[in-house]
Amino acid sequence: MAATKKTVLITGVTRGIGRALALEFAKHGHLIIGCGRDKTNLDSLQLQLSNASPQSHLLFIADVKSDDSVRQMAHTVRDKLGSLDIIDMFVLQCFFLHFG
Ligand SMILES: NC(=O)c1ccc[n+]([C@@H]2O[C@H](COP(=O)([O-])OP(=O)(O)OC[C@H]3O[C@@H](n4cnc5c(N)ncnc54)[C@H](OP(=O)(O)O)[C@@H]3O)[C@@H](O)[C@H]2O)c1
Repeated sequence: MAATKKTVLITGVTRGIGRALALEFAKHGHLIIGCGRDKTNLDSLQLQLSNASPQSHLLFIADVKSDDSVRQMAHTVRDKLGSLDIIDMFVLQCFFLHFG
C-alpha cells in the first residue's frame, strides 16, 4: 500500500543528512519544504528534487539564526500552502526553528 503523502520541513537541506533526507522523502512522493544559505547548492537540489518527483517543492535561502529570515519563509509557506498546520514532520538539522 502506498504511504500517505506528507509535508516535510527540513532546515539545513543544502548538504549532508538534510539533503539526503530531502531526496529520499521526495522519491517517496512527499512534499519538501527546505532551507539553507548556499544558493548554488539550493538550486542544484531544486533540480534534483524536480527530477525525483512531480511535486512543487519549496526551497528557501534562509538563515535559521535570523528571525526575519525564518519569518519570511513561514509567511511564504503560509501564502503558498494556505496554512502551516499542514506540515507533518520537522527535520531540524541546524539550530532552532520557530514560527511567529
Ligand atoms: N554527519 C554525521 O555523522 C552526524 C552525526 C551526528 C550528528 N550530526 C549532526 O547532524 C546535523 C547535520 O549534519 P551534516 O553532517 O548533514 O552537516 P552538514 O553537511 O554540515 O550540513 C549542515 C546543513 O545545515 C545548513 N545550515 C547550517 N547553518 C545554517 C543556518 N544558520 N541557516 C540555515 N541552514 C544552515 C547547511 O547549509 P548552508 O551552509 O547552505 O546554510 C547544511 O545544509 C548537524 O547538527 C550535526 O552536528 C551529524
